[in-house]
Amino acid sequence: MKNNISQISVKTLLAVVFTVFAISSKIQAQDGEKLFKQNCAVCHYSHTDQKSTGPGLKGVFDRVPKGDWINRWIRNNEKLIKSGDAYANKIYAENGKAAMTVFEDLDEKQVESIIAFIKAPAPVPVGVASSSGGPESSETANGNGGIEPLYLILGFIVILAILIGSLRSVRASLQNASNRAEGKAENPEMTFGQEVKGWISGHRRLVGVFSIIIVFIGMKSCWDACYNIGVYYDYKTQKGYKPEQPIKFSHKLHAGDNEIACQYCHSTVEKSRHAGIPTVNICMNCHKGIQSGPQYKEKEISKIYAAAGFDPKAGTYDDSKQNPLKWIKVHNLPDHVYFNHSQHVVVGKVECATCHGNLKEMTVAEQKVPLTMKWCIECHRKTEVSMQGNAYYDRLHKALKEKYAGQYDVKFTVDKIGGLECTKCHY
Ligand code: HEC
Ligand code: HEC
Ligand code: HEC
Ligand code: HEC
Ligand code: HEC
Ligand code: HEC
Repeated sequence: MKNNISQISVKTLLAVVFTVFAISSKIQAQDGEKLFKQNCAVCHYSHTDQKSTGPGLKGVFDRVPKGDWINRWIRNNEKLIKSGDAYANKIYAENGKAAMTVFEDLDEKQVESIIAFIKAPAPVPVGVASSSGGPESSETANGNGGIEPLYLILGFIVILAILIGSLRSVRASLQNASNRAEGKAENPEMTFGQEVKGWISGHRRLVGVFSIIIVFIGMKSCWDACYNIGVYYDYKTQKGYKPEQPIKFSHKLHAGDNEIACQYCHSTVEKSRHAGIPTVNICMNCHKGIQSGPQYKEKEISKIYAAAGFDPKAGTYDDSKQNPLKWIKVHNLPDHVYFNHSQHVVVGKVECATCHGNLKEMTVAEQKVPLTMKWCIECHRKTEVSMQGNAYYDRLHKALKEKYAGQYDVKFTVDKIGGLECTKCHY
């Protein structure tokens, strides 16, 4: 009979251990898929040979050189191309010298798991995959796939509890058996609660130390989760995203070489939350006259005419032939974030280039910054509020400086006016 009890307990124990292992290895397998969606899916289909910005990756292992070539390519394709590697230069040329992002911050293990994902059979029917994980999707998974330390500890505690429980029942049945053998009465049943209480009062100090450790770990996890959300989520940044647009519009040619002001086209940037993308009418202001470009001649500019319903030979518009340009959004903040351009550009006097890089040099608009919460917050921590011509801040600043004179070097950074409050940035 005592054998039965201990057998059942050992079985439960094993079952729990296996479940924990099964869950953790499943998470491992999903890792690659998640990483792929976060880093690669904007430019590649994983399980078809359909081309997007980069080639479809179905069957890629049959094309690329053997060995660790693919790892080196994924980590830093730029270096590989520069090194003169024949295959790297071949695909680079074949894809119109479109640059793949450099992924030096992915470690070996992450690259391996991405490769494993590409090698594995398609996770869901391809039709579904391309609509949920395809290049145009902005779907982003959360969590970085690892098990949180807190869960590991909780799992450990559960296993420990089961272990103690089973040992306890084994001990009880052994005791009873020996009592019976010696002809004594059976032990009065103590409830588990009573026993725990007894144990705790016998081990006060140990329990104290453990409680402190557990509370500390719990607090630390909460702190990390709240405070470092941006850090945790840094990996899913779309930095480097530069989708191919319906017209080969070049900022370098317009804002750089021809020195057209940003505000001419992004006319609401100083007045509203959005910078705005110019309508085709704005393009027509100039392109009614400029009918040929330096690089693509009539080819690209004719797409403006198609969109405006304009016939360049007759010089007439036909409203029924208009079809609006479908620009692809480069920067995408999630819906729950509030960002306001005029506040930053006009009140904060932050330059466009600080957040967007130098568009005057870009032929294709590209996201140059991470756009994560960490990125917003780091700037708010270190950037001083612009005081020039702002009487309200001026007074406030003077008052603060007087109050803390000689004690602190008062820097009036954005965080001091509430730039770290959750509700300022989140709905
Ligand atoms: C910004 C777009 C972009 C992103 C993001 C991107 N790639 Fe690429 N990738 C390309 C382009 C474009 C090529 C073709 C070569 C070239 O022009 O540099 C390419 C080529 C490749 C090739 C060689 C394909 C072949 O047919 O030989 C592999 C493998 C590859 N990428 C894997 C990845 C992986 C894995 C990721 C994510 C970690 C990734 N790429 C992210 C654009 C991208
Ligand atoms: C002649 C009109 C024109 C001028 C001048 C211009 N832009 Fe643009 N801008 C566009 C168009 C059209 C797009 C959408 C297509 C694209 O992304 O390339 C765009 C896109 C952008 C984007 C990416 C928007 C997104 O989808 O997230 C940024 C950022 C940007 N412009 C900043 C600037 C800055 C900064 C300047 C000045 C240095 C500037 N632009 C000057 C027309 C213009
Ligand atoms: C403090 C950082 C910051 C500055 C400064 C800034 N932008 Fe932006 N810009 C952003 C962010 C963040 C987004 C993404 C907004 C979103 O997705 O809602 C964005 C988006 C855009 C877009 C896409 C359309 C839109 O309104 O969402 C354009 C165009 C643009 N910015 C142009 C400009 C121009 C032109 C300037 C300078 C006059 C400028 N930006 C200054 C951070 C900045
Ligand atoms: C303020 C005037 C102005 C506006 C507005 C303007 N452009 Fe241009 N665009 C130019 C000039 C100047 C050139 C260069 C002509 C040249 O060098 O021969 C040019 C050239 C081009 C070319 C040819 C590129 C090539 O290399 O062949 C394209 C495409 C183009 N613009 C698209 C647009 C689009 C799309 C818009 C609206 C979003 C727009 N432009 C708005 C002035 C303008
Ligand atoms: C390059 C630096 C910089 C970056 C990056 C930046 N900000 Fe700001 N932000 C400022 C400055 C400077 C101000 C102060 C403007 C003022 O004087 O009111 C400000 C103010 C704000 C405010 C108003 C705060 C208040 O208390 O009134 C909000 C909301 C805000 N930013 C949101 C964002 C979001 C969301 C992002 C990221 C997507 C972001 N900012 C990125 C510099 C930055
Ligand atoms: C200065 C602006 C700013 C402030 C202040 C701010 N956030 Fe955020 N937060 C962001 C931005 C931007 C993102 C989007 C990050 C991304 O998509 O990678 C974000 C994302 C998040 C997310 C979602 C993460 C995800 O993957 O979608 C949560 C949750 C969050 N913030 C909570 C908070 C809490 C709690 C606070 C207050 C302690 C706070 N935020 C303060 C800008 C801010």
